[in-house]
Amino acid sequence: MTMHQDKVGFLGLGSYTPQQVMTNEDWEQLVDTSDEWIRQRTGIERRRIVAEDENTVDLALAAAERALTAADLSVDKIDEIIVATDTPEVYLPDTASFLQHRLGTRSIPAYDLGGSGCAGFLQALDLARSRVICGKDRVLVVGVEVLTRLMDWTDRNTCVLFGDAAGAAVVGRSSEAREILAATAGTDGSRSEILTLEVGGTRKPFTVERAEQNLHRRIVMNGREVFKEAVRRMSQAAHEVLELAGRKLDEVALLVPHQANLRILRAVGKRLNLPDERICINVHEYGNTGSASVPLALDQALSAGRIRSGDLVLLTSFGAGFHWAAVLVQF
Ligand code: ACO
Repeated sequence: MTMHQDKVGFLGLGSYTPQQVMTNEDWEQLVDTSDEWIRQRTGIERRRIVAEDENTVDLALAAAERALTAADLSVDKIDEIIVATDTPEVYLPDTASFLQHRLGTRSIPAYDLGGSGCAGFLQALDLARSRVICGKDRVLVVGVEVLTRLMDWTDRNTCVLFGDAAGAAVVGRSSEAREILAATAGTDGSRSEILTLEVGGTRKPFTVERAEQNLHRRIVMNGREVFKEAVRRMSQAAHEVLELAGRKLDEVALLVPHQANLRILRAVGKRLNLPDERICINVHEYGNTGSASVPLALDQALSAGRIRSGDLVLLTSFGAGFHWAAVLVQF
């Protein structure tokens, strides 16, 4: 029986990273780069990459099972699944279908939110919250990415940035929930050409010629523009969500931003006037894990005891589209 005083928010969180570590020195063997360049420009030192027999749904499943365990819920209590990913298990059907089957849920609705880049998980979280407000009891949200399988391993502009991971949350209504106080999201589609993977869609279908040039894996990115917009939009979304909740920046115990690049995180921290100790940073260990980035960092911060009961935690992210989102949570 749901009670009106029950809160809508996190019932449990979980994450998973593959075992295999790839260091910057490993990249030095493959492309014209250096550990020094990667550290200085991005803060990344190493990242995890999937084993040959691991695919997107394996990572999603591991994170989802951990979130269910953390929530102390059996799988039959889940009413809907949303998977945010740009690196799906197969082209059709979506990764959520595979996850629904592997988890062994009832025949509940399950669907992907794809193409939002690194903003995917927070968009999905906002959606999950709305679904619970609309009457679903519990929604499983997963952010998962196997970027290393689909990226161009010869393009030094992008390949050194990414890593593989999954993060998951059960969102529901309970007096014990870590309440989602507010959420905001936005899109500026006029900037879509700045960060895109074109080949494979209807505009430029997959052909052998394009594949021979590695174009089906080529992420076209204007790094500097992405950098500027990421800082601007993540900071703006953070302000917006605080305003929506009627809270102030100095009340925020921890900022958990999308882990794209240490310089981006520091610039967002500076704009928000938050010192390093109030910013969650794991980009040096995992690189940019796309839509898995925020739930992975949040789950690790929680497990490490960096978040206490009552803490106000601000999540913010930015990705291709451009899309951005922010969510404010009272732990
Ligand atoms: N190793 C060595 N040199 C490199 C490498 C590399 N891996 N990659 C690029 N370079 C070279 C380029 O060829 C270029 O050389 P040139 O000047 O001779 O042409 C130079 O380095 C690029 O220099 P800058 O543009 O000054 O590099 P910048 O300081 O902007 O850093 C970076 C580049 C790291 C990509 C940065 O712009 C960035 O992080 N942007 C955000 C991109 C991002 O995060 N994308 C992920 C997806 S979206 C998201 O998650 C928000």
